[in-house]
Amino acid sequence: MVDLMGEAQRLLAHGKGILAADESNTTADKRLALYGIATGEEMRRQYRNLFLTAPGVEKYISGVILYEETLTQKANDGTPFAELLQKKGIIPGIKVDQGLEPFPEGGDETITKGLLGLPERLMAFKTTYNTGFTKWRAAIKIDGTRLPTNQAIHENAKRLASYACEAQRAGMVPLVEPEVLLEGAHSRLRCREVLVDTISTLMSALEDQAADMSGVILKTSMVLSGSTSGRMDTPEEVAQDTVGVLLETVPKTLAGIVFLSGGQTTEQATANLAAIEKEAKAQNSPWPLTFSYARALQDEALTIWAGKEENVPAAQAAFIARLQKEADALGAA
Ligand code: G3H
Repeated sequence: MVDLMGEAQRLLAHGKGILAADESNTTADKRLALYGIATGEEMRRQYRNLFLTAPGVEKYISGVILYEETLTQKANDGTPFAELLQKKGIIPGIKVDQGLEPFPEGGDETITKGLLGLPERLMAFKTTYNTGFTKWRAAIKIDGTRLPTNQAIHENAKRLASYACEAQRAGMVPLVEPEVLLEGAHSRLRCREVLVDTISTLMSALEDQAADMSGVILKTSMVLSGSTSGRMDTPEEVAQDTVGVLLETVPKTLAGIVFLSGGQTTEQATANLAAIEKEAKAQNSPWPLTFSYARALQDEALTIWAGKEENVPAAQAAFIARLQKEADALGAA
């Protein structure tokens, strides 16, 4: 019997975070192209190799969320990536949702697919690669008071909760990620409102389906004004609203909470994390909190790497320097 609570607490170890390296092949290629880097399977392998083999990464990273392709690939020295992480004491995780599809009830909302055949896929990941945790992402879009609809929030929450229970049955910690998207002209207040609805609906669904809350990690957006609102929130505003939402909606029994960067700049994501950590301490919040960024951890390193072998050491050093800043934000020694 796997100790899900113990595994969740290992993922939430003080001062460490979870690297999101689970971009689908299409998204990974788009990401590489954005930095002028060639695309395709071998370049995606080199992209993963850059981050996963960065010297000293285990000091800052407790777990890495991987995409299926990466589990089948090897680092430059021939070690399969999952094994390489395990050797460093980092827990390999796997994204198990199968992406977004249009939500049939509405106009332009989405629902996450992947429940069909999920128990079999979970078992295969666990037995073949010894993955310790899993992720499922839903995307919640804000458009004035029109979106999100209650139906989209409820259906996504129901599927997230079903997935979480299946993951626990397979002996893996679920990371439930209902991402409230940054894109849009909405105010911070509207984002706060939507996050309250989204997270409280998800927590009820988890409780209804009898998930073991001590072995569930919430991956959430921060409370931010929309990307085209013309407003830049201060870290203190973000922290006050974000911690406020969590205290209102998340039961004390949940294992912990991690944040996605969601399109914030690297500096913004680090500054907001520091302010959130400070506010959470001041409010005596009951859960461990940390980062689980993709873009905000990768940007500097990808700019330096540019797909060239000779730039790998400098790019890895930039990645480690960014992780040190996140650790400082978390108040780690
Ligand atoms: O699903 C999103 C990832 O887990 C986090 O990515 O930090 O770039 O938003 P991000």
